[in-house]
Amino acid sequence: MRHTRIRPLVIVGLAYCTTLDKHAMTRRSHRHRLSNVLSIVLGLVTTGCCINAPTVENEEVYDGIVADDVLVEIRAGNPTDDERCDAACTEIVERQEGVVDEVLSCSAMVEDSDLPWDPSHTQVEITCIVQYTAQGFCTGRRPQGHRELLAEVDGVGPWFAMHAHLERASVAAFAELATWLEGRGAPSDLVERCRAAASDEIVHADLMAAFARRGGAEVPMCEAETAPDDVLTVAIHNAVEGCVHESFAAIVAAHQARHAAVELGRDAFAQIAGDELRHGELAWELHAWLLDQLDADGRALVERAQAEALMRLPERAAANAHATPAGLGWPAPARASEMARRFATLMAA
Ligand SMILES: [Fe+2]
Ligand SMILES: [Fe+2]
Repeated sequence: MRHTRIRPLVIVGLAYCTTLDKHAMTRRSHRHRLSNVLSIVLGLVTTGCCINAPTVENEEVYDGIVADDVLVEIRAGNPTDDERCDAACTEIVERQEGVVDEVLSCSAMVEDSDLPWDPSHTQVEITCIVQYTAQGFCTGRRPQGHRELLAEVDGVGPWFAMHAHLERASVAAFAELATWLEGRGAPSDLVERCRAAASDEIVHADLMAAFARRGGAEVPMCEAETAPDDVLTVAIHNAVEGCVHESFAAIVAAHQARHAAVELGRDAFAQIAGDELRHGELAWELHAWLLDQLDADGRALVERAQAEALMRLPERAAANAHATPAGLGWPAPARASEMARRFATLMAA
């Protein structure tokens, strides 16, 4: 069982914002919060991952139980009680999350005994505080009016083809968003970052397409219908597609960067994940600006659409996990669903 504690960085970020206006606070707090949420949900470590993504130092409290063969191994492999506790803590954290940098404190406990490491015990309860350096990451957003592809993904090649297709859709999504924002006098920083994101998505599409070709699959064409582009529609689209789906995709890409087979794109997922974290942060900043363009009723509709998307996310994540072939580093369905639940809870807080 693990207790997640929001890092002080988040609290500092929120406190820092108290003198800003409401939506500027939303913007800044989410910038901090997204990086931290990704880290909390995933607990990724730096080794081999996303060299261009920001790193976040995490410090969290964990508790759990080591028992049976694992306990025997820990007892035999570590000469002192402190070393046993650290080893048990590391085992608990790493089977759930990522690699531990340092165990800051650790305590071991068994019922009715002051000697938790005595060989007569078959299980020991551990509570510890660990520090690890995590990275946050991300993947695609669909453009307005995107026509969803109903293709069966029945292997690794088709999976990459589908994702190359979605990355190409993201190129169009950011290009059209940049033009739309420019036409409405949005800050040039947001416009330029959307254009930069479109360039990132071209790279992602090419990476995925190369793997698709290697797997003998062709990338389906993107199609989109004419869609309304009033402020409310664009705000809802960004709140769902950018803030929820693209941000959560950062977590999945990060997971793939750690768990995919090397020959099945681990490095590519690391690059994608680093870029997608920026896109997720951009989505939250766009969200703040778009909310500023709406009245109270409009803002309520946007927030409600986002809340519903967060609520549906665990089911969607589990379904995607089911549809992903082995070797691509996706979490198992139950794990994907749990990651989505944690993400939704933290983002909604
Ligand atoms: Fe992407
Ligand atoms: Fe993206």
